[in-house]
Amino acid sequence: MRIPIRVLTALFLAAASGAVAAGPAEAATTLGASAAQTGRYFGVATAAFKFSDTPYMTIVNREFNSLVAENDMKWDATEPQQGRFTFTNADRLVSHAQSRGMTVRGHTLLWHAQQPSWAQGLSGAALRNAAINHVTQVATHFRGKIHSWDVVNEAFADGGSGARRDSNLQRTGNDWIEAAFRAARAADPGAKLCYNDYNTDGVNAKSTGIYNMVRDFKARGVPIDCVGLQSHLGTGLDSTYQQNIQRFADLGVDVQITELDVQQGGNQANIYGAVTRACLAVTRCTGITVWGVRDSDSWRDDNPLLFDAGGNKKAAYTAVLNALNAGGPTTPPPGTGACGAQVTLNSWTGGYTATVRVTAGAAALNGWTVGVTVPSGGAVTSAWNATNTGTSGQVTFRNVGYNGQVPAGGSIEFGFQGTGTGPTATPTCTAG
Ligand code: G3I
Repeated sequence: MRIPIRVLTALFLAAASGAVAAGPAEAATTLGASAAQTGRYFGVATAAFKFSDTPYMTIVNREFNSLVAENDMKWDATEPQQGRFTFTNADRLVSHAQSRGMTVRGHTLLWHAQQPSWAQGLSGAALRNAAINHVTQVATHFRGKIHSWDVVNEAFADGGSGARRDSNLQRTGNDWIEAAFRAARAADPGAKLCYNDYNTDGVNAKSTGIYNMVRDFKARGVPIDCVGLQSHLGTGLDSTYQQNIQRFADLGVDVQITELDVQQGGNQANIYGAVTRACLAVTRCTGITVWGVRDSDSWRDDNPLLFDAGGNKKAAYTAVLNALNAGGPTTPPPGTGACGAQVTLNSWTGGYTATVRVTAGAAALNGWTVGVTVPSGGAVTSAWNATNTGTSGQVTFRNVGYNGQVPAGGSIEFGFQGTGTGPTATPTCTAG
């Protein structure tokens, strides 16, 4: 069988970089490109004050297709005085991501830590009102620009209780988390809403407490779309890591590995590879984010990242790229030719939001249109990352400027909100 030159070249380049292609198709040579081949993102936590660091940004722009603010979107950074919002650094990160077609994770709307001092001094209704206003104002500011929000971060206690953490926010009433999610949905219906926590990297009391909350939210129609597993790891990986990802996916939410870093040592590369393979094994594990670029950029002092202080790729980097390439591209649904489209609905009484994943076939896309049959009695009311023609019956969605180019086997997502019941038929997808 003759192997096309372009595949041989890719294999040679991959081997030369130490990343040996293992997947059935052309091996990608960067983390983001390889993740995109399976319809996922591979992201990194960044800091706007480092955007003038050329080696830092060279790595960011080459390797990743998603960004999150390590600190620039936290409550103390965005509302340093009550009612006075500052978004300069966060806007800079979002603008940079958009200019490069990267998605943005929002981190984090409500957290017991890193609160501005004025909020730490509040309690009861005053704190609850201030917190919900913060969610509303910040999510509104970034409306349409955030792929996923960490709406609430680290609200569960460590140890064997599976209970909520005691905090000023928890003391405003047990319903503070759902109130935050409802406010976030109202402010930005296009963003996926996540609950994010650490020490949840396996089936344990803490992750089970969160699992029970998510199950309750889904049963009561509280808007929640994903769970973030931070995955700040030491020298081992829980044997139930993948099982834990799968059980959250089985509840009907996405799972995102949101803050991955692993203690340097004999096992670091193996653990990074195992985490990557576990995410690839679960369809609704939609992406991985590492918590920093170079070891010198980390909040930790045990060299936990994929690049050393000099910006060189470590063995852990190669382990991740190999695992991503072994994941192979996700081919579009059968019978869809040049591209395929799949809809995921988040419905409530009287309305829904739809997320549509467009996946390229064997050839890259240079533009796409998706046809959706909107059930009678309902209508499309807004769309993001696409422009729609028509609002009821047969509605056509076309790519916008920054998402028409989709690599072979790669995917992009757009979404829309509608009244009535959401579409159930598989959409049509046409290249060009
Ligand atoms: O911005 C101030 C600066 O003005 C001041 O001079 C300096 C010295 O006091 O502090 C600076 O703020 C620091 C901030 O990072 C920005 O650099 C805070 O002291 C410091 O506590 C803060 O640490 C961050 C930590 O969250 C707390 O917010 C880390 O960089 C960040 O990596 C870490 O990330 C968290 C996630 O948000 C949630 N999951 C756990 C993860 C690790 O703790």
